[in-house]
Amino acid sequence: VAERAQREAEDALQIRNDFLSSISHDLKTPLTVMRGTIQLLQRRLKQGDMSALLDRLKVLEVSINKMQGMIEDILTIAQLKAGQHLDLDIRPLNLFPLITRIVEEQQEITHRHHLHLSTYSRDLPVQGDAIRLDRVITNLLTNAIKYSPDGGSITLDITDEEESNQHWIVMRFQDQGIGIPEADQPFLFRPFYRASNARGHIPGTGVGLASAAQVVREHGGTISLSSQQGQGSCILVRLPVNGKSEERGDV
Ligand SMILES: Nc1ncnc2c1ncn2[C@@H]1O[C@H](COP(=O)(O)OP(=O)(O)OP(=O)(O)O)[C@@H](O)[C@H]1O
Ligand SMILES: [Mg+2]
Repeated sequence: VAERAQREAEDALQIRNDFLSSISHDLKTPLTVMRGTIQLLQRRLKQGDMSALLDRLKVLEVSINKMQGMIEDILTIAQLKAGQHLDLDIRPLNLFPLITRIVEEQQEITHRHHLHLSTYSRDLPVQGDAIRLDRVITNLLTNAIKYSPDGGSITLDITDEEESNQHWIVMRFQDQGIGIPEADQPFLFRPFYRASNARGHIPGTGVGLASAAQVVREHGGTISLSSQQGQGSCILVRLPVNGKSEERGDV
C-alpha cells in the first residue's frame, strides 16, 4: 500500500511538472508575439508609416484571445478541482450565430482544412453562458484542426433529438485526423491528460477538453467521444433545448 501511495505521489508530481512546463511555454508564446508586434508598431509609427497598423493590431488581438482562452480554461479546471460549481451567466441564447462566427474564424486560420457546418435549423435555443459555450465550441474545433496535421475535412453537424422527456441539440465534431488510441479514450476528459499519440508530438496542455466537459455538464448537457486511431475522431456534445428542466430530478 505504501509503495502504491508513493507511486501515485510520484505520478502526481510528474503530471504537475509536465503541466507547469507546458503551461508556462503556452502562456509565454503569445506574450512574446505581443511584445514583438508592439515594438514593430512603435518603430513604424515613429517613422510615420501607418500601412501595417490594422494587420498588426489583428495579430495582437489574436494573441490576446489565445491567452485569455487559456487562462479561462485553467480557471475552469481549478474550480472543477476545488469541487465548485461554475459561475455561469445563463441567458436565453441562439447558438446558430455563435457557431457560424466561430466556424468562419477558425476557417480563416487554416487553409489546409475544410470546415463544413450543417444544421437542422437556424434556430438553436439554449439557456446558456455565451462566453463559456463559445470557448467549448472553439476548443473542440481547434482540437479537430490541431490533431489533423495533414489537413482534411472537419464537419460540425447539428441535429436534434428527443430523449428522456427532453429535447436536445446535438453537435457532432468530426475530423479525419490522428485519432485517439483506445487505451487513452477513457481518460481524455481528465484535466492535463494527453493521449500517447499527442504527447511529445503535438503541443498542448490538456486543459481544453476537461474544461469543455465541465462547462457542458454545468449546462445540463453531456459530452462523449468515439475515435479510431489513424482514422479520425468524433466528439459529441448534447445540450438541452431551452435549458435543463429542474423538475425532472436530473441525472
Ligand atoms: N480531435 C482530436 N483528435 C485526436 N486527439 C484529440 C482530439 N481532441 C483531443 N484529443 C486528445 O485529447 C487530449 C486532450 O485534449 P485537450 O484539448 O484537453 O488538450 P490539448 O489539446 O492537449 O491542449 P489544450 O489545453 O491547449 O487544448 C489531447 O492532448 C489529445 O491527445
Ligand atoms: Mg486542445
